[in-house]
Amino acid sequence: MTEPLTIAIDGPSGSGKSSVARAVAQRLGVGYLDTGAMYRAVTWWCLERGVDLADTAAVAEAARSLPLEQSTDPSSPAVSVGGTDVTEAIRTSEVSTAVSAVATNREVRPVLQALQRDLMARISDATGGVVAEGRDITTVVAPDARVRILLTASEEARLRRRSTELHGSADAAAVEATRDQVLRRDRQDSTVSQFEDAAEGVVLVDTSDLTLEGSIEAVLDVVAGATGSD
Ligand code: DC
Repeated sequence: MTEPLTIAIDGPSGSGKSSVARAVAQRLGVGYLDTGAMYRAVTWWCLERGVDLADTAAVAEAARSLPLEQSTDPSSPAVSVGGTDVTEAIRTSEVSTAVSAVATNREVRPVLQALQRDLMARISDATGGVVAEGRDITTVVAPDARVRILLTASEEARLRRRSTELHGSADAAAVEATRDQVLRRDRQDSTVSQFEDAAEGVVLVDTSDLTLEGSIEAVLDVVAGATGSD
């Protein structure tokens, strides 16, 4: 049997990680796992049920009992919790602002990491491979993945992209409005996951000067190099 094509991609907000990971999965015909969506789903679930995010044990219990359903089809990555479609709700600024409290909860991380390993194995069995993206996939969740990539981009490029996503513009005012949210979140998240420098054996892809298509090609080149295909 051929070894499954497991591709782990980490990177900070605005590195282009999600769009690139989805497109790469689509082109390779394998499943996709957005692990950030899982931290967001726990956050949404806690906010919805009035669980105090500072109560680390209660949040960890919510993570353990989360009735999550997550599509692993890269062309329609829907997420639902307890039968409610939360695909859009988990991207609101309320969730984006609160999610670091969940992502930095050290009781929550092992719960979601175990779930992620299990899902990655199941997706690989079903489709022959998986592209999983997050902050700790190359280092903690799947350090044995066949391909491990850290996508980076300059702070300026990351802010420009996030600003365009959130405000539809990258003019000076919109970039300023984005700065605090993006940089504060990365700073908080980097206290528990090390995703700013590539760990040993992880290939660094800098997307600062690349278009989306260029970033996808760069990642596909790394995959081809690692797997010996063209
Ligand atoms: O990639 P994103 O913005 O959807 O991630 C949401 C949050 O979850 C963000 O605070 C980083 C965190 N995260 C994490 O700590 N580990 C992961 N594997 C994925 C995301």
